[in-house]
Amino acid sequence: MTDIDETYASLRDAYAERRPASRAAYARARRWLPGGETRSVTHYGPFPAAILRGHAATLTDADGIEYLDLVNNYTSLVHGNAHPRIVEAVQSAVAEGSAFAAVHPTQLDLAEEIAERVESIELVRFTNSGSEASALAARIARQATGRRALIVASEGYHGGVPPFSDADEPDVIRVPFGDDAALAEALTTDVAAVFLEPFLGAGGVIPAPDGYLAAAQLAAHRVGALFVLDEVQALRNHPHGTQAALGLSPDLTLMAKIIGGGLAIGAVGGRAGLMELTAATRPGHLSHAGTFNGHVAAAAAGLASLRMLDAQAIALLNGRAEALADAVAAEATTAGADAVMTRAGSILNLHPVVDGATVTDAGAHAAWRGALHLALMGSGVYTTPRGMINLSTALTDADMARVVEAYGEALAKVGPAA
Ligand SMILES: Cc1ncc(COP(=O)(O)O)c(C=O)c1O
Repeated sequence: MTDIDETYASLRDAYAERRPASRAAYARARRWLPGGETRSVTHYGPFPAAILRGHAATLTDADGIEYLDLVNNYTSLVHGNAHPRIVEAVQSAVAEGSAFAAVHPTQLDLAEEIAERVESIELVRFTNSGSEASALAARIARQATGRRALIVASEGYHGGVPPFSDADEPDVIRVPFGDDAALAEALTTDVAAVFLEPFLGAGGVIPAPDGYLAAAQLAAHRVGALFVLDEVQALRNHPHGTQAALGLSPDLTLMAKIIGGGLAIGAVGGRAGLMELTAATRPGHLSHAGTFNGHVAAAAAGLASLRMLDAQAIALLNGRAEALADAVAAEATTAGADAVMTRAGSILNLHPVVDGATVTDAGAHAAWRGALHLALMGSGVYTTPRGMINLSTALTDADMARVVEAYGEALAKVGPAA
C-alpha cells in the first residue's frame, strides 16, 4: 500500500468507529434501496453519514455528530437549511393546498422574479428538476430548428435523464470544454443547439476560458443553432445570472437548485418566440406535461430564497469564497499537500496538484480525494466526496474561520496526492 492508501484506510476505520448509527442506517438502506441510496452521488465509502436534520449551517447525523454544511444539497440551499422565511413560505403554501391542476399566482410571482433578474428571459416554463429542464430545452431546440444534433461539453453536466444522461446518447456531440476549434468543427447545419455551463460544475468547478462562451454563442448563431446556457448552478453567482457577468444573451437558460429554495424544481426560460412553442394555445404545440410542474410549495420556497439573494448577499458570498480559496491554498502550502481550490462565485472545488498540474478529474487520485473527504468529516465539515463545496448565507465569519482550520488539519493528515 502507498502512503495515501494507508492514510485513507485508517481514516475509513476511524470514521466507521465513530458512526455505529450511520452504519446501521446504511445496512437498512441496502435492504430497500439498490446500493443503499437513491441518488448515485450521495454514496461514499465506507458508508455515508445518515443526516437526520439541518438547521442554518449545521447538519446533525444519526450518531449526533454535527457538521458545518458546505454541501448545501449540491448548491441548492443558498441560505442554508430550514431558513425561517423559507419554512414559513412553504408552510403557508401547503396549508392552502399543495399543488393544483391549475396556474397559481405564486408560480407567476416566481416566473416574474426570474424574468426580472435575467434579461434574456421573457417567458418561463417550470419543471421538477434541472434534468427535466435540460430535456425540455432539447425538445424546444429540436422543434424550433427542425434539426436533431446537440453539442455539449465532454466534461459538462446537464442532468441525469436523456438526452444528456449517458455518454453514448444518439445525436449528442461532445467537445472538450473551452476548445474553440473543436466546437467550430462540430458546428454544422445539423446542429439544433449548443448546451454549455458558464463553468464546469460537476466537472470540477472550472470557469470557461475568457471569451469562450461569447464566441460559442456567436458560432452557434452563425449556423442557425440555438445557444443554451445552463445556469442551474451558476445563477447564484450574479444578481442577473452569470450570463450578465459574461455579456451573454442565450436563447434559452436552464435553471434549478436555488429557484426552488431547497424544494424540487427546474425551469427553462428564454425568448418568447421559442418558449411559445410549448404554448397550449398554439396548434401543434410541443406538449410539456408534469403533474408537479411549478409545484406551489417549491415556487413559494424559491421566491423567498431568490428575494433574499440580493446583490449584497451575492457579493458577500463571492467575497467569502475568494478569501476561502486563498486561505486553503496557504494551508495546503503549510501542510506540504499540493492542492488548489478552483472557484466560480461561491462554488469551489479542491483539487490535487501533481507534477505541477491541477488534476480536475475526480476519478484520478481517488484515494486522496476520499481521504480528504473523511478527514474533513472528522473535523466537522461536511463536503462532497469529489471536493466540491459551496457557501450559504447561513455561514458566519466564525464558521468560515473554522472551515479554514479544518482544511488545514485535513491537508496535514492527508499530505500530497503523489
Ligand atoms: C449544471 C447542471 N445542470 C443540470 C443539473 C441537473 O439538475 P437536477 O439535479 O435538479 O436534475 C445539475 C445538477 O447538479 C447541474 O449541476
